[in-house]
Amino acid sequence: MTEGTRKDAASLRSARWLAPDDLRSFGHRSRLMQLGFSEEDFAGKPVIGILNTWSELNSCHSHFPQRVVDVKRGIAQAGGFAVELPTLSVDESFTKPTSMLYRNLLAMETEEMIRSHPLDGVVLMGGCDKTTPGLVMGAITAGVPMIYLPAGPMLRGHYAGTVLGSGSDAWKYWDERRAGNVSDEQWRGLQGGIARSAGVCMTMGTASTMTAITDAMGITLPGASSIPAVDSAHSRMSASCGRRIVDMVWEDLTPDKIVTDAALRNAAIVAMATGCSTNAVVHLIAMARRAGVALGLDDLDALGRVTPLLANVRPSGKDYLMEDFYFAGGLLALMKQIQDRLDTACLTVNGKTLGENLEGAEVYNDDVIRPLSNPVYHEGSLAVLRGNLCPDGAVIKPAACDPKYYQHEGPALVFDSYPEMKKAVDDETLDITPDHVMVLRNAGPQGGPGMPEWGMLPIPKALIKKGFRDMLRISDARMSGTSYGACVLHVAPESFVGGPLALLKTGDMIRLDLVNRRLDMLVAEDELERRRAAWTPPAPLFERGWGWMYSKHVTQADKGCDFDFLERDFGAAAGEPDIY
Ligand code: FES
Repeated sequence: MTEGTRKDAASLRSARWLAPDDLRSFGHRSRLMQLGFSEEDFAGKPVIGILNTWSELNSCHSHFPQRVVDVKRGIAQAGGFAVELPTLSVDESFTKPTSMLYRNLLAMETEEMIRSHPLDGVVLMGGCDKTTPGLVMGAITAGVPMIYLPAGPMLRGHYAGTVLGSGSDAWKYWDERRAGNVSDEQWRGLQGGIARSAGVCMTMGTASTMTAITDAMGITLPGASSIPAVDSAHSRMSASCGRRIVDMVWEDLTPDKIVTDAALRNAAIVAMATGCSTNAVVHLIAMARRAGVALGLDDLDALGRVTPLLANVRPSGKDYLMEDFYFAGGLLALMKQIQDRLDTACLTVNGKTLGENLEGAEVYNDDVIRPLSNPVYHEGSLAVLRGNLCPDGAVIKPAACDPKYYQHEGPALVFDSYPEMKKAVDDETLDITPDHVMVLRNAGPQGGPGMPEWGMLPIPKALIKKGFRDMLRISDARMSGTSYGACVLHVAPESFVGGPLALLKTGDMIRLDLVNRRLDMLVAEDELERRRAAWTPPAPLFERGWGWMYSKHVTQADKGCDFDFLERDFGAAAGEPDIY
């Protein structure tokens, strides 16, 4: 805390609602009393909002009702007044067409929930993929002290003596089932064993990448992201969040003092060292733009080239899951390995610097958290491509694909929609070779809509039966952080708005040159010009409602898919009206 910035009760934000001797404040106090509170419960105390993304359809957050009790215990111990506010749950498993369509809705809700209520600080409870960036984006903009409480990973999956990893093993055994190698009984057994407890996916997928990012940014308690959801340490961490947020309010430790350029770069480096879900690219850029930090695709590519992958956790690592990562020392131990590459002067929510938090961090299993001298890969968590197919960028995860695709040329097989693609891949007579490049378009932010995780296109049955398990695939979609394979994603601009992917035809040759970060269609420029002139935009997908608003305002993948009007500088000159 900076000396002299400690707040007093009169300067609390909530005092504007609760302290004055006027009619409106009388109403606020009387309504708290209607809830059974006395003035002793709230008068002069920091009001802490617990923004809870629990729902009965969010299996990853099923322990949150108990964690709210833990957080409230901590808040009361520290002299704060806790109020729980439910926010959009955005579960990954059930939301159609994709949870990404609703990330910005959660971000808007978070921002407005904080702005419109008498809150002095907030504990953000999230973890399932989009909940982390949604909550954080909104809270960065709202600007009150905040602390992120990550849901924590679920326990390892198990079936018939085999350890199972969320997502990754579902894809793997689905391919084997399509090849006729998995019986109905085995398939049901896998279904019952792959998700054994509360918590987020326990591979280093999007959820654990994003919570690692918040940890590295300094907005969780140190190391909180690695604690398994059902470990008693998770309850203790939750109570600590409650205690700490009250002090953060008195210290006026607002997000702008923590979420800085240096903190976001630390987060990007750590993401690369953990294996980095490609989804992290979109969310990191969106969070950075909310914080006014110019972190773009080229910065991430540069970091991807020099950052070794140290977390031997599936899907980029080979052998382990998040529970192993926790027992090996967790994120603090991993950050300790790359301490020299991080800005350790960054302030974190516990009031200490990142460097202070890393003192004493230790690796207990150096096969799970590798030393710099023995990384899983020397580089390659992420690469950004450019070329005439993706002038505004595309991403690929080199560490997760067969190196034989690093330089590849092959004919395109183009699909305009997911149903069209799905029908073709199940056709055992499909005329396709392993050299073909499967392309799915109209799957971007507007075309999907919401840029669904369709980017790991299924290998056609015609190839699966011949033993092939990987091939080059390209789309303007995203893919799950638990996916793998030679998948080029996030092609920008997307085809739905007339990006070059819209001009591609089946049979056109495509060249991927990963070493030089190029992705091109080998089609003459005059021919492309003819196709461009003949292209007509698809009909809008929405005429009303959220989808209409989303389509009007979502930005492209290279800008983070935020809404243009929510970005930091939008309308900044006019400022905000004094109505809160
Ligand atoms: Fe919630 Fe994977 S489904 S984190």
